[in-house]
This record gives sequence, C-alpha cells and structure tokens, in this order.
Amino acid sequence: MVIGVFDSGVGGLTVVRELLRHMPDQAIIYLGDTARTPYGTKSSETIIDYSIEDTGFLVSKGANLIVIACHSASSVATNAIRQHFSLPVFEVVSPSIQQAIALTKKGRIGIIGTRATVASGVYEKTIPELSPEIKVFSQACPLLVPLVEEGWIKRSETRRIVKKYLRPLREREIDTLILGCTHYPLLRPVIQEKIGKTVQIVDPAQEVALTVRKFIEQKQDKAEKASNNANRFFLTDLTPTTASVVRQFLGAKILLEKIEL
Ligand code: DGL
Repeated sequence: MVIGVFDSGVGGLTVVRELLRHMPDQAIIYLGDTARTPYGTKSSETIIDYSIEDTGFLVSKGANLIVIACHSASSVATNAIRQHFSLPVFEVVSPSIQQAIALTKKGRIGIIGTRATVASGVYEKTIPELSPEIKVFSQACPLLVPLVEEGWIKRSETRRIVKKYLRPLREREIDTLILGCTHYPLLRPVIQEKIGKTVQIVDPAQEVALTVRKFIEQKQDKAEKASNNANRFFLTDLTPTTASVVRQFLGAKILLEKIEL
C-alpha cells in the first residue's frame, strides 16, 4: 500500500507521525499545501477545489489509499473526493466521532476546530444520527493554528487564549473533547489543564491511524510489505522556517520536496 496523506500545510504531519508509529512498514506520500494554507479560514467551495487537486497529485504519485489529514478538508470535502476518485478515502472526523461516542458517559461531547470545520456542522449532524441522546457543543479556535506554528506552545498568552476558547465548553459541562484540528495535539497538555482533568480527550490523529491499520491488515497479504524507504514529503511552498516547523510536528528531520500543483 502507498498511503497518500494531504493537509493544508504541515499540521497533517501529526497524522503522519501516528501512521508511522502504527504502520512503520507502509510507504507514505505526504502533500502539504503550504502555498495556500490555511484552509480553515476559507469557503467550502475553495477547500473542495484545493482538496481535489491535492488528492489528484497524490494519486499521480502512486497513492492507492488516501488519508485526509486536514480537519477542515475532512469536514467539507470528503464526499467530493469520494465522488472524484475511486480509491479508499479515510478522513479524521469519523474515527474521532466513534471514539468520542464510545468514551462519553454524560453524553456531552465538545469539539474544537477551525472556523471551516465548526461551520460545516458535521459533528452536530453526525453524532446525533448515531446516538440521538448525545449533546454536541463546538467552538472555533482560529488563533491556535498560528500560535502553534510560531512555537508558542507553552507561552502564557497561549494558555490564556486556550482558557478563553474553552470556557463555553466548560460551562456546558462536556466530559469528552475532540481535538478537531491537526495542530491541537501539540497543545494537548494545556488543553487538558484548561478543560479540566476529568474530561477525556480524543486525538483524531491516533484514531485515523488505527482505522487505516485495521483496513490494511484486513486487506493486505501480510507477505506483501511496502518499503518505508519510499516515504516522500512534498510541500507547495518552502520558506526559511519550514524545516523547523516540520520538525516540531513530526519530531524528526526529513527531506522536503517543493512542487507546484
Ligand atoms: N489543517 C487544518 C485543519 O486541521 C488547520 C490549518 C488550516 O486552517 O489550514 O483544519
């Protein structure tokens, strides 16, 4: 299997990290659309257009399974991608919804994400379809992506902003919180502190990696293994700070290739 992963930028490397942890033998081709990032502030139409181009690129490089690492793209573009391409498409919303439903005891689930993800209403629509008794509360946190990319993970300013964003969810007495954006796993300690120790946190990067692994294990002949030497990382723009931001997300130094879509 060649797993094609795309994101609006480098945040999707949190998903790659989990895929590599759970499936070190699979080949990964990553596309980060750094030239057009962020997606989370854009309209659904634009996110769909970009996501189809991103998927087309991964397919042209030999991907035979797609993981949409970007929550904004997962929330608004999954159906369009499935209509355009006839290969398995995984996204980060569904596995995290399933895990949140399994974890919640009080039936009160919170979601934080970009404006595009929250505006899509996908969680409010899907969760009650699966479990009508569960209440869903979402909160857009648009300042968190740039703060993480600036490396302001432990700064007092960031802690205050996280606290402010989470206050409405605290007031709603959620007991489970989905980190609905690629960047938020890096803020997990401060998010846990500000939402409260008893709230269970769902990391979609982990959940999608487990779902993809299960799919591949069921499908693939164990003898047929892809070489992980084939991993490639493409970005649509490179700046002097890209390499250090990438290291922050992936925890490793990698070769980055610049491409035009
Ligand atoms: N990758 C995006 C997401 O998970 C966050 C960054 C962006 O807005 O493009 O929604």
